Amino acid sequence: MSPPSAAPAPPSRAFVRRLLRAYADGELTNLIQIGHATGLWTVLANGGGTAAEIARRARLDPRYVDEWLRALAVARVLRYDARRESFHLAPSRAACLAGPGIYNLAPGSGMVAIGARHLPRVARAFRSGKGIPAAVYEPEFSRLMDDLNRRRYDALLVPEYVRLAPGLEARLRRGIRVLDFGTGSGHPVNLLARAYPRSRFVGVELARLPLARARREARSLGLRNVRFVRGGVSSLRTLGRFDLLTAFDVIHDLAWPEATVAALVRRLRPNGRVLIGEPRASSDLGENIGRTGAAYLYGVSVTYCLPVSRAGGPGGLGTCWGVERAKALLESAGVARVRVRPAPGNALAVVITGRILATHPRRRRSAEGPALARGGRSCPK
Ligand SMILES: C[S@@+](CC[C@H](N)C(=O)[O-])C[C@H]1O[C@@H](n2cnc3c(N)ncnc32)[C@H](O)[C@@H]1O
Repeated sequence: MSPPSAAPAPPSRAFVRRLLRAYADGELTNLIQIGHATGLWTVLANGGGTAAEIARRARLDPRYVDEWLRALAVARVLRYDARRESFHLAPSRAACLAGPGIYNLAPGSGMVAIGARHLPRVARAFRSGKGIPAAVYEPEFSRLMDDLNRRRYDALLVPEYVRLAPGLEARLRRGIRVLDFGTGSGHPVNLLARAYPRSRFVGVELARLPLARARREARSLGLRNVRFVRGGVSSLRTLGRFDLLTAFDVIHDLAWPEATVAALVRRLRPNGRVLIGEPRASSDLGENIGRTGAAYLYGVSVTYCLPVSRAGGPGGLGTCWGVERAKALLESAGVARVRVRPAPGNALAVVITGRILATHPRRRRSAEGPALARGGRSCPK
């Protein structure tokens, strides 16, 4: 046992203030989520007023609304006019909390709530080292992902994301086969299918509930060129070959990342393309310290991505595994000309593009390589 240390160090007042700010911001995040869930942000975006007026317009209980407004005034999110006892949301802030625009960040507050709901399980996983199946987080998680990303994909997927891969737009127009792996509730692949009716799309997803929503949306859009398959990489064997692989926010969640990516790349024809969305982080931890959004991404990693990835295999990349490792993994799977660029309209993500060369030596090697040989015993799903 180490000897008792001398007098304990005096508490750092600055750090105490830092902790109190963190707890206050945690509560603020909950308040933002309540405003999103109840429609209060939309009401405030349409004009301020007294607590009673705002509660009436929102059709909510006046006392709850009053307390919520007070909390947000204290947090300096709302302006409080003491003379009129009214609360106001500046238009430039309303665009960040309400409406169909891509800068409506209110849905992001839900990630903290989902993490908090599962904290006891996550703490148990710290002791056992085991993972937590993604299904435990459903149906909330895939709904949240959809809410987080839908507005941005609506505005930018076709006009901006697709153009990040040279020549891809023209090929999609002419008609190619596209695989969206880990499709979740399928909104991106449905948007692509609608924009490029000559191409044919398959969304593959392990989880049942989001897939049902993906199919419903495809039906409601009248799409005939998209289908959804429940399963993992093993379901690809019967699906033929593809010209484009898309995977949005999926690779870092995989239980068998190397083997799965290698298997996905083998489903691509020569001159095939990849278009992959991943969180924006460096593989060098030091580079992430103090970066905007990095603490949020690491928090999501601890409460969701890391445990989910360890549920069906070794997983463990973590949300912030970083663009350098992502590039290396894709290259070792046989993807050439890998480029990483900031994701359009999303400061916390990157888009990775690349292409399959028929003669790529590693692609040939990885086709028979150990990653897949290993798949026999503990096959990636
Ligand atoms: C973070 S979500 C992203 C979903 C969707 N691409 C989006 O952008 O909203 C990751 C998805 O990958 C799915 N997933 C993880 N591992 C998988 C695997 N081996 N095969 C198929 N889907 C998988 C999960 O079930 C989850 O729906």
